[in-house]
Amino acid sequence: MYRILVLNGPNLNFLGVREPGIYGAETLSDIEKRLEKQAEGLGLTLSFFQSNHEGELIDKIHAAYGACDGILMNPGALTHYSYALRDAITSVSIPTVEVHLSNIHAREAFRHTSVIAPVAIGQIAGFGSLGYDFGLQALKRHLEKK
Ligand code: DQA
Repeated sequence: MYRILVLNGPNLNFLGVREPGIYGAETLSDIEKRLEKQAEGLGLTLSFFQSNHEGELIDKIHAAYGACDGILMNPGALTHYSYALRDAITSVSIPTVEVHLSNIHAREAFRHTSVIAPVAIGQIAGFGSLGYDFGLQALKRHLEKK
């Protein structure tokens, strides 16, 4: 049983309300419920955390050291500029998959850069909430290969 931390950053608590044309109609809790079901079949145990505060996300990543095998993270806008979040991932050396609902590369120029991607095992973007499902599968494969 691999233990996976599913982290969501700023404004993702507003999924379902926030720009549904871009981010879809599902709420974060809808997505988490679906992931929980998928995790059973994959033999993963999940814990969930969302915060609008960079420091809280960093604290959660630190707390995952020795307690989690992988991280699935949508860092929201922090993706584009948070060196502190990036350093938190390299500090704990936990394999991390970066996920985005929207295709950040097809949007405004400031979204094309991810400071997280170079320290993640991979990035998934543009498949809506299905990206989280893909991310769990990718993490499982990665952990099995190790
Ligand atoms: C996002 C993309 C980011 O640019 C944006 O700031 C978000 C959501 C996505 O899931 O598509 O908050 O991470």
